[in-house]
Amino acid sequence: MKVEEVVEIVRLDPNEVDGLVEAQADIFADYIIPFRSSRKFFMDFLRSVGGRIDDIIVAKHQDAIIGYVNPVIDGNEAWIGGLGVVPSFRGQGIGRRLMEAAEEGARLRGVEEIILEVIEGNSAASRLYARLGYTEARKYLSAEGKAAGFAGFGNRPNRVRVEDIVEVHRASYSESCWQRRKAAALEESGRTCEIYSVDGGFVMLRRVETTGFIPFIGVLPQRRSLGIGTSLTKFALNRLWELGAFNIAIYNVNDDLATRRMLDKFDFAVTIKQVEMRKSVATSR
Ligand SMILES: CC(C)(COP(=O)(O)OP(=O)(O)OC[C@H]1O[C@@H](n2cnc3c(N)ncnc32)[C@H](O)[C@@H]1OP(=O)(O)O)[C@@H](O)C(=O)NCCC(=O)NCCS
Repeated sequence: MKVEEVVEIVRLDPNEVDGLVEAQADIFADYIIPFRSSRKFFMDFLRSVGGRIDDIIVAKHQDAIIGYVNPVIDGNEAWIGGLGVVPSFRGQGIGRRLMEAAEEGARLRGVEEIILEVIEGNSAASRLYARLGYTEARKYLSAEGKAAGFAGFGNRPNRVRVEDIVEVHRASYSESCWQRRKAAALEESGRTCEIYSVDGGFVMLRRVETTGFIPFIGVLPQRRSLGIGTSLTKFALNRLWELGAFNIAIYNVNDDLATRRMLDKFDFAVTIKQVEMRKSVATSR
């Protein structure tokens, strides 16, 4: 029997989230970044990207979930918040069928462009996306560095609430990766982070065990190259040091000269690069 007949592509039944999480354990067991999902992790992630359980599409074989795609629809654009097929079912066109179903569903909801990110070096996924017509748009970096007891970061930034930095986030993140520029991600980080602001910029930080995270640092476009970013970074590294973090992780910052110089200044080392790919799915095609 052909694989198209025995593997069906259907919407996720909201009662089957545990089956999806189980499949993810298998899908991501050999992933480039070690990653273990749980029901809570997945639901938090979904909320942080503004996704919906009933937009998820799964591949099923004899009632077991063996693949999924998570299209997050936002107005006239959609973002792929995860795609995977369990190893024993790869190379049979299931990844392609899942993506095509996601594209079709998105198109019917008025989506004109689909955006996704793929880790540089994930050749199976990159080839699939390229074959489906996605083209490279830009790159993002993730990096790791150290917390440090900096002095001289200027005036201490003010501790603020997430509502206070919504505008500066919107203006400073308009040219950043899909996830970071969305208000839902900011709000979700706001639940767990300390937030500080200065005139023209803000930073969010969080310690988890010995690792410090800087999920957001933004400076208004018209206030750049004045040392605000450097000063906020010094403050954040100092604050995380005070909080007891050693290693610092920064995810998906733009791969541009200004950001690279900033990372170099604080001895951050790039850990992974992500490639943003886009495809137009406007109905006129
Ligand atoms: C990326 C991933 C989803 C691809 O899933 P898949 O089901 O293997 O994808 P497809 O089968 O559609 O395509 C894979 C290969 O099978 C080939 N293929 C497609 N249809 C086929 C068919 N009917 N019969 C046999 N082979 C087929 C494709 O040509 C492709 O070959 P290539 O890699 O040499 O170019 C899968 O490798 C995976 O889950 N990886 C781990 C998670 C991951 O990296 N997710 C993406 C994050 S951005």
